[in-house]
Amino acid sequence: MIGAARTTEKAEEACESVSGNTTPIVVELTDFETIVAAADTVRSMDAPLDRLILNAGIMALQQLEHANGVEKQFAVNHLGHFLLTEHLISTVRRARQGRVVVVSSGAYRWAPPEGIQFDNLDGVQSYVPFTAYGQSKLANALFSRELARRLADSQATSNSLHPGVIPTNLSRHLPPREDDGDSGSSMRLKTIPQGTATQCYLATAAELAEVTGYYFADCAVAYPDERMQDDEAAARLWAVSEELTRDYRYA
Ligand SMILES: NC(=O)c1ccc[n+]([C@@H]2O[C@H](COP(=O)([O-])OP(=O)(O)OC[C@H]3O[C@@H](n4cnc5c(N)ncnc54)[C@H](OP(=O)(O)O)[C@@H]3O)[C@@H](O)[C@H]2O)c1
Repeated sequence: MIGAARTTEKAEEACESVSGNTTPIVVELTDFETIVAAADTVRSMDAPLDRLILNAGIMALQQLEHANGVEKQFAVNHLGHFLLTEHLISTVRRARQGRVVVVSSGAYRWAPPEGIQFDNLDGVQSYVPFTAYGQSKLANALFSRELARRLADSQATSNSLHPGVIPTNLSRHLPPREDDGDSGSSMRLKTIPQGTATQCYLATAAELAEVTGYYFADCAVAYPDERMQDDEAAARLWAVSEELTRDYRYA
């Protein structure tokens, strides 16, 4: 198991929390150089990659921030994972039945009604924190869908998922809530183990060996709205992502 995190210490800590052979690795998703270096390290292990789980994310930055020329949530949640996948997909293809698991979110619904705003990827025309998060999560699922199409000539699969609503550090960028006496929110929260169940299911379930191109929630296929099933937007997102990462693409 290869455990990726932004610092060596965090990656080592993650690796130490599980048993078996582990390799910590540093990946900062806003830094294309670290993505390429991490992927080089993985490829140099010369072993097939059975599972690639794309899970890192940030949510609702209160001020517009940029990385690599685009709005930062799009950069971290989508573009960094896109580049990492491009560098590692040949090793996933080499596995007996490789799987890419992309952690999206039901928050894709907060994306603009028309879908991804390709003319506003830098957020300069307009920036609403949760809309930008929703757009990045829509991008996760469209990327997974297009990847599944591209993997059709192999045994490998790609699926995306909504993990549920889980109290984690994802809310670190939100302003502190005033106590309105209604701390018992009507939202059904999952524990962290429950919140990891759907990606573990996608990564391991034998019955999913040939299931690809879907979006899951609660360990079952879910049918999201038409923005998530827009093959034209998925293909365009892929082309735009290639262009945005062109100096770092896998030769
Ligand atoms: N929690 C929910 O309710 C919920 C709901 C739907 C979907 N999701 C999705 O679930 C995934 C996991 O989120 P979480 O809830 O576990 O949040 P979290 O506790 O904040 O974990 C996010 C992880 O992403 C890493 N990360 C952030 N920026 C990064 C960067 N630039 N490069 C590399 N790694 C980076 C963080 O590392 P550091 O600790 O070093 O910052 C952290 O390990 C995300 O994709 C999120 O969108 C969560």
